[in-house]
Amino acid sequence: MDQTVAANRIADLTEMLDRHNYNYYILNHSEIDDFTFDQLMAELIAIEKEFPDLVHPASPTQRVGSDHNQEFKQVAHKYQMLSLSNTYSEEEVLEFDQRVRKLTDENFEYVCELKFDGTSISLTYEKGLLVRAVTRGDGEKGDDVTANVKTIKTIPLKLKGDYPDEFEIRGEILLPFKVFEMLNQERDEIGEQPFANPRNAASGTLKLQNSSVVASRRLDAYLYHVIGTDLPDDGHFELLQHAASWGFKISEHTRKCKNTQDIFDFLNEWNISRKDLPVATDGVVIKINSQRIQDELGFTAKSPRWAIAYKFKAEQVSTLLLSVSYQVGRTGAITPVANLEPVLLSGTVVRRATLHNSDVIKNLDLHLGDVVFVEKGGEIIPKIIRVDLTLRHPLSERVNFITHCPECNSELVRTEGESAFYCPNETGCPPQLKGKMEHFISRKSMNIDGLGSETIELLFQHNKVKDVADLYDLDEEDLSNLERMGERSATRILESLFASKNVPFERVLFAIGIRYVGETVAKKLARELKSMEQIKNATYEKLTNVEEIGGKIAESIINWFKNEDNCKLIDRLKNHGLNFEVSTEQKEGQTDKLKGLSIIISGTFSKFSREEIKNFIELNGGKNVSSISTKTSYLVAGESIGPSKLEKAQQLKIPVISEDELIQLTI
Ligand code: IVH
Repeated sequence: MDQTVAANRIADLTEMLDRHNYNYYILNHSEIDDFTFDQLMAELIAIEKEFPDLVHPASPTQRVGSDHNQEFKQVAHKYQMLSLSNTYSEEEVLEFDQRVRKLTDENFEYVCELKFDGTSISLTYEKGLLVRAVTRGDGEKGDDVTANVKTIKTIPLKLKGDYPDEFEIRGEILLPFKVFEMLNQERDEIGEQPFANPRNAASGTLKLQNSSVVASRRLDAYLYHVIGTDLPDDGHFELLQHAASWGFKISEHTRKCKNTQDIFDFLNEWNISRKDLPVATDGVVIKINSQRIQDELGFTAKSPRWAIAYKFKAEQVSTLLLSVSYQVGRTGAITPVANLEPVLLSGTVVRRATLHNSDVIKNLDLHLGDVVFVEKGGEIIPKIIRVDLTLRHPLSERVNFITHCPECNSELVRTEGESAFYCPNETGCPPQLKGKMEHFISRKSMNIDGLGSETIELLFQHNKVKDVADLYDLDEEDLSNLERMGERSATRILESLFASKNVPFERVLFAIGIRYVGETVAKKLARELKSMEQIKNATYEKLTNVEEIGGKIAESIINWFKNEDNCKLIDRLKNHGLNFEVSTEQKEGQTDKLKGLSIIISGTFSKFSREEIKNFIELNGGKNVSSISTKTSYLVAGESIGPSKLEKAQQLKIPVISEDELIQLTI
């Protein structure tokens, strides 16, 4: 391909990918399937790799982010980023209306729009290209987070239609509720403190140094304020319609209002309907539509005179605190939970409220039997916001945070600077062991198919497993004796346990569940230090020299390997054949001579163990299967093979071979 052909193809691919991105992320309807989209993207990546000079900063390939740590440059805002003054009642909205009418004699319209509860951003476009994205900062200057913002699919890198030559557009970056929940679940799995609400998660994500992590977080953005000197309309509402035609995501729930009654209708409607939105909102912004009148009214020191925020009231109810219970997480973190007299709040019955940590209990000075006020705010899970002290019984008992683990009775510890207490009995505390095992078998870790939390619970109850290495000692009998476990499910579990020995080292490292060693950290460690042995013996300096590994992670790794039980555990996992180093080259003896073959082994063997034969099949590219079907390629028969298996193989005309014949197939 020569330079001109490449440039043309890049232009075509860019146009197609931009269009499909817009259809999918902004219009919510897709014309092509993911596979075709990925193919177009792969083609563009390949051409750009060959012709690096032709990579445009607005190319769709630039959305994946980069692995390099970035420093955020401080940038002065061309137009100050002010905030809005808040109101909480219809009376205050009426007062706002009267204030405005005193300041202007003109007739005007209002625009009501949702107040999105995320983190604000200012985007600058020049000649249709996104050139800068800056956070609010102190309103005068903010952080240049362009590299991170470029990864957000709903923010156009290149505009369409008839846009002004240069302008700014402001809006809110948000993490949708669904993504927020998934993110917190992942954080919990690696022992990171979960984000309190989607707003904190969005602003935390936007400030991450590694933009490829930002890309994976699926942030969203709504734009609500166009600023510039050469805009196509005076109306704010109309400008937003223009912005939508340039490719921006603009909320559909924006309405022109003629008077305060129209405003109240909007407020009442959205006070209810906002609960069905996929992102967090905390109020309504009421603005005067005409920019000319906006300019006439101007600003106070802190906020515009032409707009006001009406904040939704977080619903509150009072109820009785019955007791406090304590949950032990996979990492041993203790979370206190308030058990309440059931009460209706925002349409759901609330029985429990999170208390986060011991400081919250102390600050509220909770006593059993207290009348408490519960609120469901941006926090999603209800929380106790205050106690009605006038109703406290003088003899009621103060809630004192526990000193010992409710599950294994170990004395709790607290790391300096952290708010959570931990149970230190990592290798003996049942919920920690079960949680570790659930993490170990999960899809992103060892991916053990067919083994779920219920089976793990049963295995614990029947004393079949105590730690993750025990999983590899399970046999068919152990599993099929469990309640509700059929023979097929048992073999499926054994097969996937076996297959998990091929899981690459970085995932094994993630799977063993060292606190703070998440997927990305595990990848970085594996890439740099290459083997479990190296990581185990690494000094603090060596660990912190690895990109993105800070002191907290390094200490956690060192402490994990200091624990003898952990060392014994990894020795056993190693003996079971799990990958303990990065595979750079082919393993010794590796071929693809058995590629595409499904092989079943049955009976006992003289030269090799069943395990060795299975390893041999995989090493040569074959697949071990456990039940005979028309798709089976060979049955490797050992001594004392059951007659029914042999019969079935003969019926289906599946060749029956010996272990020697199997070896012959690979020569
Ligand atoms: S207009 C001069 N419109 O609320 C201020 N702001 O307290 C113009 N926000 O910093 C802001 N949704 O982060 C505006 N539809 C909306 C909004 C909105 C959320 C945020 C924004 C701003 C804060 C004001």
